[in-house]
Amino acid sequence: MASDAAPARSPPTLSIIVPTYQESNNVPLLFERVKATLNGVPWEMIVVDDDSPDGTSDVALALAAGDNRLRCLRRVNRSGLAGAVIEGWLSSSADFVAVIDGDLQHDESILLRMYQALAKGSGNLAIGTRLRQAGSGSLSPARQRLSDIGAWFFRRIAGVAVTDPMSGFFMIRREIVSRLAPRLSPDGFKILVDVILSATGLSIVEVPYAFRRRNAGESKLTPLVGIDFLGLVVHHATAGLLPIRFVLFATIGAIGLVVHIAALSTVRHWFGVLSFDSGQLIATIIAMASNFILNNEITYRSHRYHGLGLIGGFVAFALGCSVGALANIDVASWLYKANQTWWASGLAGALLSVVWNYAVSTNLIWRPGRRR
Ligand code: GDD
Ligand code: MN
Repeated sequence: MASDAAPARSPPTLSIIVPTYQESNNVPLLFERVKATLNGVPWEMIVVDDDSPDGTSDVALALAAGDNRLRCLRRVNRSGLAGAVIEGWLSSSADFVAVIDGDLQHDESILLRMYQALAKGSGNLAIGTRLRQAGSGSLSPARQRLSDIGAWFFRRIAGVAVTDPMSGFFMIRREIVSRLAPRLSPDGFKILVDVILSATGLSIVEVPYAFRRRNAGESKLTPLVGIDFLGLVVHHATAGLLPIRFVLFATIGAIGLVVHIAALSTVRHWFGVLSFDSGQLIATIIAMASNFILNNEITYRSHRYHGLGLIGGFVAFALGCSVGALANIDVASWLYKANQTWWASGLAGALLSVVWNYAVSTNLIWRPGRRR
């Protein structure tokens, strides 16, 4: 028998991963633009779509049927930006992998410069750094400030000078992410932060570009997801022991405590006639609602409840947490009887309820595979 035929095309040396959720109008345009910019480079584009209801994967598959530089990975009953990117990377056999948003906000024309910098060995990670500029596409002053504080803090803890660590646009040698993959968090949004905190021996090249305004579809992230950066930092500080979602959940729980006390004192001030117990009940409901909303927006953003679904989600969350609270009271009073140390008993009870609430939230309320 004759040996295998020659490969149909030269294998790509660059795989560009495009995570998508509801980007059916943008994907064809992005593919055209990448084609125009990456002349002479053997590249491929891999769209990783989380079964978007707008048919993004159908659009990508139709294009792929006519051009083998495009592939589409459709994930069903799954969601999450970082996880999609990681799986896209793992499906590549190229020397270099990149990630670019599917909504045309990132300027694809710098891909070539990123590629050239890595190919000639100027570094092993090229980051697209958003230029500061007035006018369209720029961040609002408040968002810019938040982003500056985040970047400053990041330089302190990571010990590397990166102008725009929150960038979602970068290119890296595949062997690096291939090695790191089992340790990266699929639940986050800041995949670059995770990569930099996990890797050693990075040498970074920054390529500036002008961040564009979105022209179709809508953003799936909010400035609030900047908080997931905190989760990543603690996750790394505890040597990966605490999952990023647990850190976020516990932080929001602590905020809930403050909300509870504030609500209780307000209720007592304005409705002095109420008994302590009814004040406490109202404060508990308010704190639970605040916890539910924040977890829905941040911790479990990729599985979040919308519209009327919010009511059902909140009722289920409140029920689940009530069980946690009862267990908390039970365990704490049992421990207190046994050892008489009020603070240790209280702390143990509180810890128990955080872990319980987290388990219920992750596995039932915002269970994986829930459609958002
Ligand atoms: N597969 C998949 N699954 N893709 C997703 C998901 C998801 O759950 N959520 C969002 N995406 C895709 C979007 O379709 C888009 O292509 C890309 O991820 C970025 O999402 P946007 O909703 O456009 O995010 P953004 O513009 O608010 O945020 C961008 O800028 C930030 C800096 O301001 C992102 O690049 C962030 O990573 C970046 O930190
Ligand atoms: Mn965007």
